[in-house]
Amino acid sequence: VKPESVSLYPLGTAAAPEPELLCIFGTGDFGRSLGQRLLQTGYRGVYGSRSPHSCGPLPQGAQVMSHAAAAQLASLVFICIHRENYSFLETLAPHLTGKVPCYSQMPLLVPGAHVVKSFNTLSAWALQNGPSDANRQVYLCGNSPEAKQMVVEVATKLGFTVLDRGSLYAARELEDFPLQLFPEWRLPLRVAVGLSASFFFYVLIRDVIYEYVEQGKDTSFRIMVSLANKVFPIVSLIMLCLCYVPGLIAAFLQLYRGTKYKRFPDWLDRWMLCRKQLGLLALGFASLHVLYTLIIPIRYYVRYRLAAITISQIQKNQTDEFVTGMAWRTDSYYSMGILGFALYLVVGITSLPSVSNALSWREFSFIQSKLGYLTLFFCTFHTYLYGWNKFLNHSSYKWYTPPPYMLALVLPSVVLVFKLLVLLPCNTDCPKCTKNTLSFTVKS
Ligand code: HEM
Repeated sequence: VKPESVSLYPLGTAAAPEPELLCIFGTGDFGRSLGQRLLQTGYRGVYGSRSPHSCGPLPQGAQVMSHAAAAQLASLVFICIHRENYSFLETLAPHLTGKVPCYSQMPLLVPGAHVVKSFNTLSAWALQNGPSDANRQVYLCGNSPEAKQMVVEVATKLGFTVLDRGSLYAARELEDFPLQLFPEWRLPLRVAVGLSASFFFYVLIRDVIYEYVEQGKDTSFRIMVSLANKVFPIVSLIMLCLCYVPGLIAAFLQLYRGTKYKRFPDWLDRWMLCRKQLGLLALGFASLHVLYTLIIPIRYYVRYRLAAITISQIQKNQTDEFVTGMAWRTDSYYSMGILGFALYLVVGITSLPSVSNALSWREFSFIQSKLGYLTLFFCTFHTYLYGWNKFLNHSSYKWYTPPPYMLALVLPSVVLVFKLLVLLPCNTDCPKCTKNTLSFTVKS
């Protein structure tokens, strides 16, 4: 991008150079908004239209003429017309040779032009109002670096951030962008729904149906808080692990293959790409757990139980013994939960683009990797302390099923053990690899 410069001309001498002229094909909403924005930014604009004399209101200062005439005046042509109407471009091919048509996908129609695909992820509204948070990025792809540079300069002057997606092969991907609704959230959402439903039924069977069938007690009221406060933290813990599993698989895969220069399988790539969404959803579930935990003391059921215990002590005229071990255990698991949640927030917040953009790669990877693992460690330890010796108790295995917290601990324990293996100093005799603490660097 050229640095902005201001030229001063003495009065009465040569005039300032004329602003660059850009051509826009199409006088619909998008074309009009783009033209208006270009004019506001200091460009001159000429519209190419099928019917230059009856094309409706256009931004003040813009000229309008036939497609062929307009294309001849500018080297950059924005194609703001529907794809169904592209066919006429074939007839214009001689006028577009050597030009840069931007926005569409027509290399076959105008073989002599340097096509750049861009601006299609923006709405006319975003163009009129200027870049805002959700509409700041302009994707771009094309085969000619010079042509792309021209479009980059215009987009940057309009205030957009340009993301180069490579050659025109990426055009199909860019075409699909506006049609997709939160595509990168789909898989993490499915995982979250699947895990929540499975654990909900598991806990329902153990805590409600079992009690009803075996003891004849109606404990269905537990669905609203107790069950929710089991399902949410368990799903959160498992999803947090799922953010770290692909990295570990990748590390071991690199070691196994003896090189880091081989592509990962597609499923691993996809999994890696949705780690941020997995982590943010996991944070959401952890926050729900914290909120549900806050209301435990004011629950009717809990207050009733406390009153019953107190009354029974009064009736027996004896106070239950203070068990220091229990005090240690409960305080420790609360403390681990709080520390885990605090780090969870730090890791989650730094994964947001507005925050991560302000960090260097080293800072970002320190937080996401080291603090991330520390978060996992605290949350896992919190759950171990919560379970404590319950696993020794026969009554914990209702209908031979283990308590859900035990199931929740399987994956985190495996992930932490594997991470520990990765951190262990590598055998120096190993001919294949050298390693640093953050990741494997494998010599081929
Ligand atoms: C269980 C507190 C954060 C995972 C519990 C329980 C409490 C608690 C009181 C027992 C709930 C019950 O008896 O039904 C807290 C506090 C936290 C916190 C105060 C932070 C402010 C976390 C975080 C995670 C987590 C960040 C990780 C995802 C779990 C798990 C259980 C649990 C898996 C066992 C659920 C079950 O099977 O009953 N926590 N927690 N907690 N917590 Fe936390």
